[in-house]
Amino acid sequence: MKDILGQLGDRREDARLGGGQKRIDSQHAKGKLTARERIELLLDEGSFEEFDMFVTHRCTDFGMENQKPAGDGVVTGWGTINGRMVYVFSQDFTVLGGSVSATHAQKICKIMDMALQNGAPVIGLNDSGGARIQEGVDSLAGYGDVFMRNIRGSGVIPQISVIMGPCAGGAVYSPAMTDFIFMVKDSSYMFVTGPDVVKTVTNEHVTAEELGGASTHTKKSSVADGAFENDVEALTEIRRLFDFLPLNNREKAPVRPFFDDPERVDPSLDTLIPDNPNQPYDMKELIAKVADEGDFYEIQEDFAGNIITGFIRLEGQTVGVVANQPMVLAGVLDIDSSRKGARFVRFCDAFSIPLLTLVDVPGFLPGTSQEYNGVIKHGAKLLYAYGEATVPKVTVITRKAYGGAYDVMASKHLEADINYAWPTAEIAVMGAKGATEIIYRSELGDAEKIAERTAYYEDNFASPFKAAERGFIDEVIMPQSTRRRVARAFASLRNKQVQLPWKKHDNLPL
Ligand code: HXC
Repeated sequence: MKDILGQLGDRREDARLGGGQKRIDSQHAKGKLTARERIELLLDEGSFEEFDMFVTHRCTDFGMENQKPAGDGVVTGWGTINGRMVYVFSQDFTVLGGSVSATHAQKICKIMDMALQNGAPVIGLNDSGGARIQEGVDSLAGYGDVFMRNIRGSGVIPQISVIMGPCAGGAVYSPAMTDFIFMVKDSSYMFVTGPDVVKTVTNEHVTAEELGGASTHTKKSSVADGAFENDVEALTEIRRLFDFLPLNNREKAPVRPFFDDPERVDPSLDTLIPDNPNQPYDMKELIAKVADEGDFYEIQEDFAGNIITGFIRLEGQTVGVVANQPMVLAGVLDIDSSRKGARFVRFCDAFSIPLLTLVDVPGFLPGTSQEYNGVIKHGAKLLYAYGEATVPKVTVITRKAYGGAYDVMASKHLEADINYAWPTAEIAVMGAKGATEIIYRSELGDAEKIAERTAYYEDNFASPFKAAERGFIDEVIMPQSTRRRVARAFASLRNKQVQLPWKKHDNLPL
């Protein structure tokens, strides 16, 4: 009996060693943690329940029958983050480069199926050389099975990918279909084809880092939602994000204890808007002053800075924030910001996270580049996303809300529930100067008259009151009371229910 128990201990020890001490050392030398060390940091201490530790591949080609490492290059199971359940897979680069065999994929599929059945998120820690070359199509089939589960689970359970090493070829498409992708700076990369193939096909010379490193994907491609300095920071931040999210689409996000008075007024907000309408100010200041304890978890911070997206809490409850940022491109809507905003709005709506929209938008960005690249379709994404969202929607216009962009940014017309405006709001088809120059084109030679007309337009149209007279703005509020007003607005909407006509699914402009 003792022998048998001892055998289990030995086999466990062997499995825990993955590809052996030499490869573990080499992983550490690259500044990377091992698959198991990562799980330990991600989950609450002692909470990890592992499955399939002894699974081995079934390949008999290329001498693989003589090389059957326990666990087959991926550690899978479940555990908790601050007491809430989560399923995890963590690819072990020390075992055959973390490459994906049929059985490696089956292990991932097993925990994805459990996650869907039991209503808990999946976090994937990716560190893999891709399809197990020795297994050929069996490996590709395994990827396909994972893809299908990503799709089935989308909108049902949150799925988070952390890229902590290589992720190349078709393998990128599993993370691509999850809700959030995070990367580790300098040690991770993602691309569909690597630098060598790129050189052969397009004669471009790029390094792996330039082609698909964290900087590329957080700043240029927007494939990734954030980048972290190292494994430890990445895993700590994922824990922080996890706390904002519900476990599945039938549950609400967790309510955390809060120590910040919801009635708190902030007189400094009364002077946030500069006297000069063309002068920018930092919208993040407003977000921080509205949020419980000033805590803001930003998503896609380094991409399309003209729109800000992320999570805050109000009275302990998660709220998704979308805000124009006057500091970047005057807060204009363009292709990138529309796509960024739309994806965030759809995530929040899918997982019952209420939406706070802070508006200061001069309109859509003009130009051939925008038109040729489809700003019509991409802008429509944000419009569509807001219109289809049935979660509580509260909007505050701080300054400009011009033209089509006024409609798009969670206006009353897209069935936002409560629309506030600061007294400094300017809700109009366009700015006063442009408007006057069009309506009074014949008087353009007379500067005095034009100035007079512009002033009239400003007084009568560039204010929140025309919209308030029509009920499109529910209330003009003092900037200093924004936190209180917004918190009360969301409190009043906690039991919001909306009935929609049956459809198979929508046809979002893609
Ligand atoms: C089998 C693999 C492997 C793979 C790496 N290894 N990738 N084994 N299949 N895909 C093994 C290596 O043989 C080596 O084994 C160990 O993992 C570590 O690899 P190294 O090359 O020593 O590591 P490093 O120098 O850090 O380079 C990492 C790498 C490189 C850049 C990822 O290994 C590489 O280019 N691998 C091939 C990548 C690839 O072409 N994959 C297929 C992509 S297409 P030993 O025993 O020496 O430790 C794809 C399609 C998916 O994935 C389609 C989905 C639909």
